[in-house]
Amino acid sequence: MTKIRSVVLGCGSYLPGQVVTNAQLAARIDTSDEWIVQRTGIRERHIAAEGEFTSHLAIKAAQAALSDAGVDAQSIELIVLATSTPDNTFPATAVTVQNGLGIHHGAAFDLQAVCSGFVFALATADNFLRSGAYKRALVIGAETFSRILDWNDRGTCVLFGDGAGAVVLEAQEQAGKTADRGVLTTHLRSDGRHKAKLFVDGGPSSTQTVGHLRMEGREVFKHAVGMITDVIVDAFEATGLNADSIDWFVPHQANKRIIDASAHKLHIAPQKVVLTVDRHGNTSAASIPLALSVARKDGRIKRGDLVLLEAMGGGFTWGSALVRW
Ligand code: ACO
Repeated sequence: MTKIRSVVLGCGSYLPGQVVTNAQLAARIDTSDEWIVQRTGIRERHIAAEGEFTSHLAIKAAQAALSDAGVDAQSIELIVLATSTPDNTFPATAVTVQNGLGIHHGAAFDLQAVCSGFVFALATADNFLRSGAYKRALVIGAETFSRILDWNDRGTCVLFGDGAGAVVLEAQEQAGKTADRGVLTTHLRSDGRHKAKLFVDGGPSSTQTVGHLRMEGREVFKHAVGMITDVIVDAFEATGLNADSIDWFVPHQANKRIIDASAHKLHIAPQKVVLTVDRHGNTSAASIPLALSVARKDGRIKRGDLVLLEAMGGGFTWGSALVRW
């Protein structure tokens, strides 16, 4: 029986011009390139310029995705933007992006699931497309985490970067098989008992300030691999696919050690793992579409390839998706 699937028509990304290396951070705080590379795999990150907001990065990523897809902005009916660093408390940054793209129809809204944001946004848009509510959607992950970092806390400020990535999805009728193009399955989870391990200590309702990111790094690390692998097993069980079936593993880029351990536990060959954390740092909701764009541009991900996505972040939230390109 045929099925409506959300097929990826194109993807794109944008990174701010300013690159900050580990050595540059070591000149400002008590850290070293060696410590950061050994613990995280991160070598450098991009940082947004003064006056450059999350919406600016998102608009550029969306334009790149539309151009890659070869479709006009006016054909987009839905924008779901994942971010924890919106331009303003309200309106949603997605609406600013919609206006910036010259779109004044359909719907646009933000979605907040921290580092899992892109997977949550992809699942949300996929459900709208499969229901028949919309035909074409932009799914964006965009962040300026540099604005919520405590630059005196060496345990967190070395880990994150700014950037944006986007994909264009289109509802298309497919055969209803795992060989179909499009989003084959998504799995989302959350558990608020872990709030204190990774949070921002401010907000409009609590402190009336933006606040700074706080993290118990070891605690996050301890839970990450188990949660990530659990939700990937859910995706494999739902589809009958497995680690051998996938062509590319594009994980949330938080930390090379978490990615390596997850791939190892799932028996995913290292050459199938797309890694950008060395150059981008952790860009939260933007990291997966940024990595997808890199692997598309350098020719690794090709039409028909099976791509496994996963993310885990504050909340905790975590999720996975299997997408045939
Ligand atoms: N440079 C030098 N030394 C540092 C730095 C730094 N940037 N940061 C911490 N240290 C020191 C600590 O002060 C501590 O020193 P002490 O032993 O004298 O007290 C020592 O290094 C060890 O500190 P830990 O925090 O225990 O270091 P750990 O080995 O756990 O590594 C890290 C820290 C990299 C944050 C690790 O816990 C980790 O990767 N956690 C996962 C967190 C993560 O990736 N979060 C991203 C957000 S969540 C997500 O996206 C999944």
